[in-house]
Amino acid sequence: MVTILFIGDVVGQASLQTLVKTLPSLYEQFAPHGVIVNGENIVDGKGLSEREATMLFQAGVHVITTGNHIWENWKARPLLSSNPLVLRPQNYPAENPGSGVATTTITQGYRMSVIQLQGRTYMQALECPFRTLDAVIERIAAETPIIIVDFHAEATGEKVAMGYYADGRVSAILGTHTHIQTADAHILPCGTAYITDVGMTGPVVSVIGMKIDVALKRFLLQTAHKYELGEGFTRISGVVVKIDESTGKALAIEPFMLPEIKATIS
Ligand SMILES: [Fe+2]
Ligand SMILES: [Fe+2]
Repeated sequence: MVTILFIGDVVGQASLQTLVKTLPSLYEQFAPHGVIVNGENIVDGKGLSEREATMLFQAGVHVITTGNHIWENWKARPLLSSNPLVLRPQNYPAENPGSGVATTTITQGYRMSVIQLQGRTYMQALECPFRTLDAVIERIAAETPIIIVDFHAEATGEKVAMGYYADGRVSAILGTHTHIQTADAHILPCGTAYITDVGMTGPVVSVIGMKIDVALKRFLLQTAHKYELGEGFTRISGVVVKIDESTGKALAIEPFMLPEIKATIS
């Protein structure tokens, strides 16, 4: 049995530091073979650079996924070009830097593939994530049966549809982007683990990571206001997926949200 730990969107540098400090105890608690972190919101809510990626890899993370916010950070582009273990959604136009597919060796020599896709409902008009998944699965099928998909999408319906579309063909469809953990983690009929959103690793007292008064201005005034991070205590959200290594089918999916931890930047 292979255990994969997936941590939801890390928002801000303080939350990154909290996560890095907490990863040893997460390793102790869950004994994961592979660790995946969504890092699309690390630097002031927008993307990450080599420095933050290195912190995560040194802390025992195997693959970093991102999302729509990765493109707002110019330092992320060389990182996407140079490090194949930092993913961006595969269904963006191919001329953009980076890739949304990686296969890597994890603890005890197991191999894990990670695919990242982005939804199109209330988001950019990208290539079809469903057909992109078909093409990627066909290309990487021989690599390993352990395939984790980060589906970065806004609409619950699109995420649920992707779960059923992929059921039995990948080990897990794990939703990201909406930052609030959903209460629907389960195994689909043909053996794919599913959750609509794994939730955020970020400031608890915030509007999905953003400072409350800035978020309120955006809604009340209907104009753009500079993004500011929420402050204070961080909550780490994620899921643990247990997978049969010979079939790639999920045996269990367990969401968790750790109690708030006081975030400090050192
Ligand atoms: Fe996010
Ligand atoms: Fe996002």
